[in-house]
Amino acid sequence: MEKQELIQMLNNDMAEEHGSIIRYLVHSYLEGEDTPMGAKLLSRSREEMWHMHWLGMIIGDLGGAPNLTPAKYPFDPTNRKTIFKSYVDYEVKLVSHYQEEAKKVDDPHIRRVLMREGWESDMHAGKFQKMHDKLSPAEAEGLPGEENELPEQFVETLQQLVEVKYNQMLQSLHDAWTFQKSGLSAWQIMDFSYTKMKQLAHIAEEVAENGFEPRFKDKGAIHHADIGKALQNALESVRDTRERHLTVKNDPEAKKHGGLMTNLDLSINQETYEAEEIEGWLKK
Ligand SMILES: [Fe+2]
Ligand SMILES: [Fe+2]
Repeated sequence: MEKQELIQMLNNDMAEEHGSIIRYLVHSYLEGEDTPMGAKLLSRSREEMWHMHWLGMIIGDLGGAPNLTPAKYPFDPTNRKTIFKSYVDYEVKLVSHYQEEAKKVDDPHIRRVLMREGWESDMHAGKFQKMHDKLSPAEAEGLPGEENELPEQFVETLQQLVEVKYNQMLQSLHDAWTFQKSGLSAWQIMDFSYTKMKQLAHIAEEVAENGFEPRFKDKGAIHHADIGKALQNALESVRDTRERHLTVKNDPEAKKHGGLMTNLDLSINQETYEAEEIEGWLKK
């Protein structure tokens, strides 16, 4: 298989993995991640994150630009029963899909990754089938989601934060994958992407707890010419989100939510740390 064709194939797979991360994550948050159903969905979402990461590492290693636009996850939203049935169908299709792709590839590592994505999809299908079969009649007929308790304007403020932090996190993954041959810097960028995921989760959970789907709307990552430019961009981006977090912290509505305030403080401190670290690397 030609290199460009291979990159294209893996980028399509990455879009699917990304789409499933978001679907299981949003569903988990809507159930509440501390509920048995929410916790299981969160586990599946994390496994899809590995799947996406392995593909991102391969694409970056091949010199390709990772595609960070998620595919649309197909599901029947009528009730939990139809939703879980859709998840099973989706994961089952991926098993043969990945097996077929693996056959077309010569590189043993890429082949193993594709095979693993296949058998882990099979495991996911089995786990979702179990969840589907165990639904109580009330759960089966119902839908995840809670009543909104926040003012509309404040929900919008949080949604804007979700969108910006989501794109910042995607950009850092993009940079870590594409500059993986730059050694330690790429590791450090990857490290920061984990913090960004956590900061994103704090806000996205708050949104979903009030019955809204968090605004995971990708704007497309920038393919930087060199790591210096990537770091400069990362620095400006983290300064921007720090300012946004400070603004939200001063919102009278935010002050009513103790848990949110704690997480905002944490995010602001982490962003200060990150900005100082990047400034240090840029000076070297
Ligand atoms: Fe997957
Ligand atoms: Fe899966």
